[in-house]
Amino acid sequence: MRKIIAAGNWKMNGSREMTQTLLSELKTGLQAGTNADVLVFPAFGYLQQAVELVKGSVIQVGAQNLSTAEKGAFTGEMSGAMLKDLGCTHVLVGHSERRAMNHETSEVVAEKFAMAQKTGLVPVLCVGETLSEREAGNTKVVVAAQLQAVLDHCGVDSLADSVLAYEPVWAIGTGKTATPEQAQEVHAFLRNTLSALDAKIADSLRILYGGSVKGANASALFAMQDVDGGLVGGASLDSGQFLEICAAA
Ligand code: PGA
Repeated sequence: MRKIIAAGNWKMNGSREMTQTLLSELKTGLQAGTNADVLVFPAFGYLQQAVELVKGSVIQVGAQNLSTAEKGAFTGEMSGAMLKDLGCTHVLVGHSERRAMNHETSEVVAEKFAMAQKTGLVPVLCVGETLSEREAGNTKVVVAAQLQAVLDHCGVDSLADSVLAYEPVWAIGTGKTATPEQAQEVHAFLRNTLSALDAKIADSLRILYGGSVKGANASALFAMQDVDGGLVGGASLDSGQFLEICAAA
């Protein structure tokens, strides 16, 4: 049995006050226990505050990005070692917003994946197709190529200590969720692709779905055989919604 992950990607939202309020509401809401592994990904500036606030709870803190470099003259960047030093356990790599807006290629994403693992962080590798890619019938080709870049750079064994997230770009922040069947089809494809290389790793790897997940649709998505949780943007900023998603686990 793969344990469900409820992960909240806060993106560039929040403040000290919001971090305090949201995390204390989540802590209270999760006090009675949860079947999910619960992760939050605040912006860099609030990581330390978040790490302090989640102490004594089940919530773990991750970052939204890391540098490909170890250290040095990289103005504005954060290294994996710094994130680890701050108390982060996870880091997102290859989120579609970074691929699109920061021109991160799949090769750069693979370097970040490797650096995350080198510094003791669990990478959450995001893959997903745009609407035009889906409409052209290229969904599987696109996600396979995004995954292949990491396989080429790091090898299949590296997937053992990672999380995969399928996030169709057309479903992110649009309110247009993939149907559970659409999600399942791609999740099964990703798992089968890995299974051909290493069945054990493929079977234990958790594959999250992301794209307009909310309290109302989480149960149906998590009920699918190969959907092992959600990477949640907008709804993770609302404690009621996010707790509902945790409860769907
Ligand atoms: P959304 O974002 O839930 O707001 O669609 C998901 C994500 O980008 O991880």
